[in-house]
Amino acid sequence: VSHFSAMVNTHRKLILNIYCSAIILPQICICSQFTSSSNDQYNENPGVFPVATNGEPFPWRELRLPTKVIPLHYDLFVHPNLTSLDFVASEKIEVLVRDTTQFIILHSHGLEIMNATLQSEEDLRYKKSGEKLTVLSYPAHQQIALLVPEKLMADLRYSVAIDFQAKLADGFEGFYKSTYRTLGGETRTIAVTDFEPTHARMAFPCFDEPLFKANFSIKIRRESRHIALSNMPKVSIYASPDKWSQTHYALEASLKLLDFYENYFNIHYPLPKLDLVAIPDFESGAMENWGLVTYRETSLLFDPKTSSTSDKLWVTKVIAHELAHQWFGNLVTMEWWNDIWLNEGFATYMELISVNVTYPELQFDNIFLNDCFEVIKSDSLNSSRPVSKQAETPTQIQEMFDDISYKKGACLLNMLKDFLSEEKFKKGIIHYLKKFSYRNAKNDDLWSSLSNSCLESDFTSGGFCYSDSKTTSNTLTFLEENVEVKDIMTTWTRQKGIPLVVVEQEGRLLKLRQERFLNGVFRDDPEWGALQERWYLWHIPVTYSTSSSNAIHRHLLTSKTDTLYLPEKTSWVKLNVDSNGYYIVHYEAHGWDQLIAVLNQNHTLLRPKDRIGLIHDAFQLVSAGRLTLDKALDLTHYLQHETSIPALLQGLDYLESFYHTMDRRNISDITENLKRYLLQYFKPVIDMQSWSDEGSVWDRRLRSSLLKLACYLNYAPCIRKATELFSQWMESSGKLNIPSDVLKIVYSVGAQTTEGWNYLLEQYGLSLSGAEKNKILYALSTSKHQEKLIKLIDLGMEGKVIKTQDLASLLYAIARNPKGQQLAWNFVKENWTHLLERFELSSFPMRIIISGTTSHFSSKDELQEVKLFFESLQTQGSYLEIFQIVLETISKNIKWLEKNLPSLRNWLLISI
Ligand code: BES
Ligand code: ZN
Repeated sequence: VSHFSAMVNTHRKLILNIYCSAIILPQICICSQFTSSSNDQYNENPGVFPVATNGEPFPWRELRLPTKVIPLHYDLFVHPNLTSLDFVASEKIEVLVRDTTQFIILHSHGLEIMNATLQSEEDLRYKKSGEKLTVLSYPAHQQIALLVPEKLMADLRYSVAIDFQAKLADGFEGFYKSTYRTLGGETRTIAVTDFEPTHARMAFPCFDEPLFKANFSIKIRRESRHIALSNMPKVSIYASPDKWSQTHYALEASLKLLDFYENYFNIHYPLPKLDLVAIPDFESGAMENWGLVTYRETSLLFDPKTSSTSDKLWVTKVIAHELAHQWFGNLVTMEWWNDIWLNEGFATYMELISVNVTYPELQFDNIFLNDCFEVIKSDSLNSSRPVSKQAETPTQIQEMFDDISYKKGACLLNMLKDFLSEEKFKKGIIHYLKKFSYRNAKNDDLWSSLSNSCLESDFTSGGFCYSDSKTTSNTLTFLEENVEVKDIMTTWTRQKGIPLVVVEQEGRLLKLRQERFLNGVFRDDPEWGALQERWYLWHIPVTYSTSSSNAIHRHLLTSKTDTLYLPEKTSWVKLNVDSNGYYIVHYEAHGWDQLIAVLNQNHTLLRPKDRIGLIHDAFQLVSAGRLTLDKALDLTHYLQHETSIPALLQGLDYLESFYHTMDRRNISDITENLKRYLLQYFKPVIDMQSWSDEGSVWDRRLRSSLLKLACYLNYAPCIRKATELFSQWMESSGKLNIPSDVLKIVYSVGAQTTEGWNYLLEQYGLSLSGAEKNKILYALSTSKHQEKLIKLIDLGMEGKVIKTQDLASLLYAIARNPKGQQLAWNFVKENWTHLLERFELSSFPMRIIISGTTSHFSSKDELQEVKLFFESLQTQGSYLEIFQIVLETISKNIKWLEKNLPSLRNWLLISI
């Protein structure tokens, strides 16, 4: 990493001491030896005040600072230049005002203050920029005064931001220069701090007295050939030097998340430092090497100009994931690869827990829920596999890194957490981590740690917990019965697939039945029986709420059928509260109609995640032939009034996917009608969107989705605006800042002309932002001209302008384009051996290429073609699980169309 620059931060809790010895770069301390004890209040008589350098009265005449304003935290950023021998710096001081005042007095010595601004807590909350402050200087006392336009109010916190610069000092105080000679005779310069007793003020404006102790975060900018040292072992982000400005977010997120994990697990991060490194060429998203986590650039770098809110979600997710591995994976490791889900499932589950707390505004639980839905798609095919599975060869081992390990693993853990309660679950995993620290563990070790039901406050002895009120057995009970976590969980990890819970409400009886849920296999299909048979049971933690009770009712369904007695009469029942369970629910008799009626009357009677779950389950049941498409589409009718953005996006996703299927298959009447329906039905909410980055994270996601859809459907106002922004951007030679959330849309519209396309390709080569490059590449791949798509593939194979690491997502994107689907697939077939020269057969990229270029096919001819190709590979000895998954997916698509095309056609005729 010698030619990398670093962004460094001392890792929390920097309580500074008085004694500072000279070391390389800031060691910071707060020092003073002033003896004057007076601490006068503001004196109304200006006549007695000293005169500041600009001739105005300086509002403070004492050597010691007033105590009306005290510092709590300093965020210090220093950039020393060892060639020009000066430094530029900025700081943010969080202060507490103890008594109303009109100014802040700070120490500052020999510093040139360029700018000072003030933000109130409210400004910070609403991201309002700071108010500029007047700065007066009184060198005789080494003080500056910041005059505020409006009085600072007592008991409030404010943030003072100051930009400043200075020469590195001569002599031995403050921030000064020192030189040494190497053995080779080279003279080298270092910059050093020495602060005691009153020299911190030479390095940065501060409350330079011993009473004003505060916490510090320090960032040092330096050249790659230099090293920065500070008080703490440091968390660092490394990237190539030009990308330094994109490292800030990652540093902030990794500090927050590291803190979170240490607290949550109650186990210190065991290494003295942690580096996060953005590698320009990287195959997967990131790798959790202990203390030196490596990332693809787009998984770590966040460019405020071109990274969208979805990019931020991704970066946060990856950092949270890899840091969780420092415990789950590095501290405790699975015994063998068959249990890799203990690493990957747990890291994915911990993303949910940590990001929801550290970045609540991201509402990460909705992203997590989508991950569960994502894996349900493949887990409801017969080609799925159990979470725990033998894996011996390198290929088999690599194949274990799939959605089943990551997403199903995580969703099962989330279900178990919901069943046991967060408190017990957390306690169990801490027990597991502590017990197996620096060792290996297997499934059963986790289950036994989780089975222990004593709480932290309990005293345990001889298999019993002694709490204040009672003594209980040290085993888990559910509704008064003993349950073994292992008995429950092995039904989920050792058999593949997902259960369907069929509910029928008869008065106050609730009849439950479980079966295996199969996507694309209908009950009257000949294979149905065999696929259901010999199927053992799941132990399903069923939850439900009813029209008469919003409380969460619980029942552990361990048999094929069961009947519950509802305590009250109710008009409807909704199972799987908040979609925490890993199962699909089908409501027989009038169940669905009643729920659809509730959605239409007042959808807020159901929780947002219950609404999302209903939309999801309904369309899954359509694929399984259990619900008619009309019914599922009728259910989406309430979406016009949907107040939860994730729920709206869920419904929109299905409708959009139907449009894509029809468009790809060239079924023009339905394509046209669906377009009309979507634009008519969602017009009010599309027209409401602004072309900006304003609003909450989910407002912004909705904006991106809706405008992307609108432009894709050729909605004139959308195309007009995007075209206008694109031309402005081109005219500005790519300098104009387009709001990041609409960037991809603007580029995609711009890419439709040859001039725009060529310009984008040029910019692709120039851009330093991976986030922007991804958006450009996507836009380029939406061109309707095959020769342009071919050019992209050629560039991707060449690996210079378009790096080999991005080839898989390029082929994936081209295959999404109706004009590129055949092209991409032909390319894969014809260049199979060339692809294998670049990627291993079972690697992430290769599996993305295989499924990305085939799994959207939906005709018998295509199925046959893909099958023949896979068979030809198998005879050469390459066999992958993904082949079977793809073939089953295509069969499922064919069936869906056979069954549902007429209803979709009719439903549209009635609805528009
Ligand atoms: N341990 C994996 C990296 C990995 C992937 C190693 C495949 C061996 C084979 C890492 O922790 C990981 O899971 N990375 C993910 C990102 C994550 C946020 C889902 C990836 O690379 O996609
Ligand atoms: Zn991982």
